[in-house]
Amino acid sequence: MRRMAIVTAGGDAPGMNAAIRAIVRRAVPNGLRVLGFERGFEGLITNSSKALSLRSVGGIIHLGGTILRTARCPRFENREGVQRGAETLRANNIDGLIVIGGEGSLRGALELSEECDAAIIGVPATIDNDVYGTDETIGFDTAVNTALEAIDRIRYTAVSHDRIFVIEVMGRTRGFLALEVGFAAGAELILVPEAQLKMEEIFDKVDECRRKGKRSSIIVAAEGFGNTERIAEEIRSHTGSDVRLSVLGYIQRGGSPTARSRRLGNLFGSKAVELLLDGERSRVVGLHGGTLASEDLRRSCESVKPLDLKLLRLAEELAV
Ligand code: F6P
Repeated sequence: MRRMAIVTAGGDAPGMNAAIRAIVRRAVPNGLRVLGFERGFEGLITNSSKALSLRSVGGIIHLGGTILRTARCPRFENREGVQRGAETLRANNIDGLIVIGGEGSLRGALELSEECDAAIIGVPATIDNDVYGTDETIGFDTAVNTALEAIDRIRYTAVSHDRIFVIEVMGRTRGFLALEVGFAAGAELILVPEAQLKMEEIFDKVDECRRKGKRSSIIVAAEGFGNTERIAEEIRSHTGSDVRLSVLGYIQRGGSPTARSRRLGNLFGSKAVELLLDGERSRVVGLHGGTLASEDLRRSCESVKPLDLKLLRLAEELAV
């Protein structure tokens, strides 16, 4: 292993820069040259990269986003694009590539591993926390805390105006972010795609809150649960109450990473380099029950990370 590369792909996540820094600072002292491909898999297709040195990754650990920039890359969803990426790795004599990104990016990494000789290692980084093979992804904790702060602020208005708030959080098709945020915010109701509810069941829960004497309610809904505009509208016409919808959107993805997201960036980045140096290939680093470990890349891509439905029930119990 002499030349390696890094790519950050898919949605940016706070802590990606910590991972880039850790990778470079473990790789260079071990005699490796490190290239950073720019704008995700797009940079692999167009052969756009820059050399990364110990100094060039200084002063980035506290920055959100990714200094390598990223992109959604539809061209990498077909074989031709992946083959172009593999050619770029060959042309640059890359022996190992670390892909930092979420579920879709790791799937891209798997496809790439089938088209090239370079060893591919995945580092899970996404605010969605939906990667199988790790308890937590880089960026998730930051997004949870950002959304939580927003909800805590919204609660003042909810309480002062006796309002019901539907607050939509990100998470793509999964409810990890909504559950964690809703649990921490003490939300009256958490709507996640993994536990679908009919509108009547939502009405029952809202009515129950009113019966219990709650004058305001916070409903945290994962974007993947359904159309939150319609849900808010239907609750409004059912209850006749003042209902507002707040879509938190991209503020959840921005900002400086929390200590925990930086910690994961440091740990996962270091572990990914260790795996390459040990001659491993097609692995995804992660935390397994709190311990730093790795998982087979294909298994990670082909398995579905379960949502902790017991936690969802506990959250409901605590929001009596
Ligand atoms: O995967 C991270 C994420 O922020 C999801 O929560 C969200 O559904 C999606 O990305 C938005 O993607 P884009 O940035 O392409 O609009």
